[in-house]
Amino acid sequence: MSADLMAQETASKRLSDYQPYPFALETVRLDFRLDPQETEVRARLALSPRRAASALRLDGEELELLSLAIDGRSLTRDEYTVDKTGLTVHAAALPAQPFTLDTRVKIAPEANTALEGLYMSNGMYCTQCEAEGFRKITYFPDRPDVMAKFHVTIRGEAPVLLSNGDLVAQEDGFAEWVDPWPKPAYLFALVAGDLVAHSGSFTTKSGREVALNIWVRKGDEDRCAFALEALKRSMKWDEDVYGREYDLDIFNIVAVDDFNMGAMENKGLNIFNSKWVLASPETATDADYERIEGIIAHEYFHNWTGNRITCRDWFQLCLKEGLTVYRDRSFTADLRLGPVKRIEDVIALRARQFREDQGPLAHPPRPDHYREINNFYTATVYEKGAELVGMLHTLLGDAGYRAALDLYFDRHDGQACTIEDWLTVFEDASGRDLSQFKRWYTDAGTPVLRVREQFEDGTYRLDFEQDTKPTPGQPGKPPRHIPITVGLLGPNGQELVPSTVLEMTEARQSFTFEGLGARPVPSILRGFSAPVRLERDVSARELAFLLAHDTDPFNRWEAGRQLAQDALVALAQGEDADPAYIDALGALIADESADPAFRALCLRLPAEDEIAQSLHDRGVTPDPEAIHAAREALARDLAHTHEDALTALYEAMAVPGPYTPDPGPAGKRALRLAALGLLNRLDGGARATALFENATNMTESLAALGFLVQTGADEKALASFRSRWEGDRLVMDKWFIVQLAACPPERAAARAAALTEDPLFTWKTPNRFRALMAGLAGNHAGFHAKDGAAYRFYADWLLRLDPVNPQVAARMSTAFETWTRYDADRRAQMQAELERIARTEGLSRDLSEMATRLLG
Ligand code: PHE
Ligand code: ZN
Repeated sequence: MSADLMAQETASKRLSDYQPYPFALETVRLDFRLDPQETEVRARLALSPRRAASALRLDGEELELLSLAIDGRSLTRDEYTVDKTGLTVHAAALPAQPFTLDTRVKIAPEANTALEGLYMSNGMYCTQCEAEGFRKITYFPDRPDVMAKFHVTIRGEAPVLLSNGDLVAQEDGFAEWVDPWPKPAYLFALVAGDLVAHSGSFTTKSGREVALNIWVRKGDEDRCAFALEALKRSMKWDEDVYGREYDLDIFNIVAVDDFNMGAMENKGLNIFNSKWVLASPETATDADYERIEGIIAHEYFHNWTGNRITCRDWFQLCLKEGLTVYRDRSFTADLRLGPVKRIEDVIALRARQFREDQGPLAHPPRPDHYREINNFYTATVYEKGAELVGMLHTLLGDAGYRAALDLYFDRHDGQACTIEDWLTVFEDASGRDLSQFKRWYTDAGTPVLRVREQFEDGTYRLDFEQDTKPTPGQPGKPPRHIPITVGLLGPNGQELVPSTVLEMTEARQSFTFEGLGARPVPSILRGFSAPVRLERDVSARELAFLLAHDTDPFNRWEAGRQLAQDALVALAQGEDADPAYIDALGALIADESADPAFRALCLRLPAEDEIAQSLHDRGVTPDPEAIHAAREALARDLAHTHEDALTALYEAMAVPGPYTPDPGPAGKRALRLAALGLLNRLDGGARATALFENATNMTESLAALGFLVQTGADEKALASFRSRWEGDRLVMDKWFIVQLAACPPERAAARAAALTEDPLFTWKTPNRFRALMAGLAGNHAGFHAKDGAAYRFYADWLLRLDPVNPQVAARMSTAFETWTRYDADRRAQMQAELERIARTEGLSRDLSEMATRLLG
C-alpha cells in the first residue's frame, strides 16, 4: 500500500468536514446472480448532478469491476480510476444532465468471513450493510444522506429469495422486490436460502393488513411463536404511544447464526442474530425472553426512528440509536414492570457506559471524529443516548415530549437528520432554550453531582455541585443542564414533598423548600433522572430508612445498592462492613408487599467489576482478589444471617405448572434463584444439584448449573448439560459462558484455554467466540489473575480473530478498557498486551484504532 493510501486509511473522519453529496440519486436497480464464489451484481444508478463539473466518487471495497457505463456507453480506462476504497469517474466523462450509471461487479460471499456485505451462513446468503458494508456489494455512494428507491431482482437456486419492500414477481429461482420508500444503502438487505416461515398478520390502525414472517432454518420453526407475538405487540404499541403506523404490506424477520451484532433494522427485512429470535422454555431463559421482546421491538421501532428519518452522517448515530433504545425501554417498561425495567437498565448503564466513560475509550454520545465507525456502536451512543432522550422527556413532561416527537415526524419524515435538527424540534415544540442541554451530546464523561443539606427554621436547602473530569481530547467541562428529580420524606416515610424536577444549570446551585416542620429525608435523583454519579454523605441508617420507605421504587433499590456498595468497598479494603445492609435486607426479604422481581434485584450484589469501579471512583486502586473475597464474604454473611427466611423464600417462590415467560412467574423465579444463589454458599450445592436434576426450563437449569460451577463441584453437571445440548448452538453458547463467568477465579484462564480445544469451539462464529471470551472477561478476578495468563490468552485470540472478523475482534478488545485503574503490575501486563496488538503487522483498521485509543 502506498504511503498516501495508508494515510487515507488511518486518518480520522471529522464531523466538521461534512459536505453534501454532489449528486442526487433518484433510483437504484440491482440485479443479483447468486453464487457462493462468484456472485455477479449489476447496478444501475439514476444520478443527477447538483453542481457542475464535479467528479463522481463511489465507494467500493473488495469488488472486481467487470464493466462500467454511463448512459449505455462503456467508459474508457482514462475516464475513471479505481482504488482500494472506491471508484472515481472523472468530471470530463460526466454529462451535465441526469444520467444512468451501470456497473457490473463480482464478489465472493463464501470467502467473506468478516460478515459485512454479502456473506454466507450455513449455506444461506445474507447481508449486513450498516454502517459501511454496502460498498462491499457494489460501487455506490455509501453514506446515509444519499437516499433512493431500490428495485431489486435476485436470481439464485435457493427456494426463498428476499429483499426490502414488497414482492412484485416471483418464479422458480427468481424474485423481484420493490421498496417504495427512499432509503440509504445501509438499510438494504438480501437473504436467500432454504428457509421456512412462521407466519402471521397484523392489521394496522387504518385497517391495512400486513403479512408477518419469521424466516428460520428448518427445525427452528417451533421456536418462533414468542418473537412473532412480540412483533405484534410492538406494532400495536408504536401506534398507541407514538402514533406510528407500519408502511409496507409485508414485514420479514430472518434469523441467522453468524451475525456480528444483535440484529439489524433493514427496511421491511430485519435480520437477527438467531439468539435474539429463537425461544422455547427448554432452551431460553426468562432473561432471554425479555431481551428478545425488547430487540424485536427495537428493530421494529427503527422503521420510523432510523429508517423513515435517518442520520445525515455516522456522527449522528445516537439520533437513531439513543431514541430507539429509549423507545424499546419504554415499551418493555409498559408491558412488564416499569420500575424493575428501569433498575435493570441503570445496572447495565453503570456496568457498560459508566465504565466506558471512566477509561481511555470515553467519547461523547455524538463523537466528532473517528477512524472506524464500527467502533462507535457503543454503550455511550446507545444507552447514554437513550438517557439523553429520557432527560428531554423529563424536562418537557409527557405532553411536551409527545408534541416534540409529533413535530419531529412531521417535519423530518423522509430526511437524513442531525442532533441539531432533533434539538430544534424540542425547542420549537416547547419554546425552551436547549443550547446548554446540547452539551450532553457533545461532551464526554459522567458528571459527579455532590449534594449537601441544610435545615433551619422550617427551610430545607439542597446545595448541589457538579463536576466532570477531563476525558480524552476534552480537558475542560462546562456545567450541564441536569434534571434532578427530588422528593422529600417525613420521619414515618410519608411523602412531604412529592417528586419535583429541579433544573440545575450552574456549577453550583441551591434549591430550597419552605414550611417544613422537621428535617426531611431527601430522595434525590429519583428514577435516575440523569446519568450522573451522585455523591452524598449519608448514614447507613438513613439508607436503610430509604430502602424501607422510599415511595420511589428506583431510589428504594438505590439505597440498598448504596449500602451494599459501601459494605463491599469496606470489606475489599480489609475494614469491617456496617451491618445495616444485612439487617435491612432481612426486612425486605420478608416484605410481601414488594414485587418478587424487585426483591430479587435487591438481593443481587453488585458485580465485581462494579465494585472495582466504585473503588476507583473513591481514589482506591482495586485489588481483584480482595474484591472477590469481599463479595463472597458478604454473600455468605447474608446467607447465614437470613438462612431461614431465604429457605422459606426458596420454597414459596416455586412456580408450579407449565412454564410461561410472563413477568409474574419470571419475577418469582428470579427471587427464588436469588435466594438459592445465597443459600448455595451454605449447602455446598445440595439444593442447586437437586434443582439442576429436576429443572424443566432453561432459566432454572442454567442458574443451577451456574451455582454448581461456583462451588467448583461442576464436572458432572457440565458433562450432562453438554451431552443433552451439544446439538443446540444457542444452548451450547450458554454452556461455554457459564463455566467461565462463574467459576472460581483461579481456574478461569486454564479452563478457557482448555475450552478452545473443544471441537465445539467454532471460533469463527461470533456467538461462540463471544461466549468463551466474554465468559472469561466476565470473571473479574479470573481475567485479572496476577500472573497475567488471562491477558495473554485473550490478546492471542483477538489477534487470531482479527484477520477473520475485525469487527468482533475490535469490539471484544474493550475487555482491556479498564486497564489504567489497576495496580502497576497489572497495568504493565495489560499495556504490554495492548502494545503487542498495536504493533502487529497487517492489523485491521478496526482493531488498530481500538488498540491505539486504549493505550491513550
Ligand atoms: N443498527 C443495529 C441496531 O441497533 C445494530 C447494528 C449495527 C447491527 C451495525 C449490525 C451492524 O439495531
Ligand atoms: Zn438500533
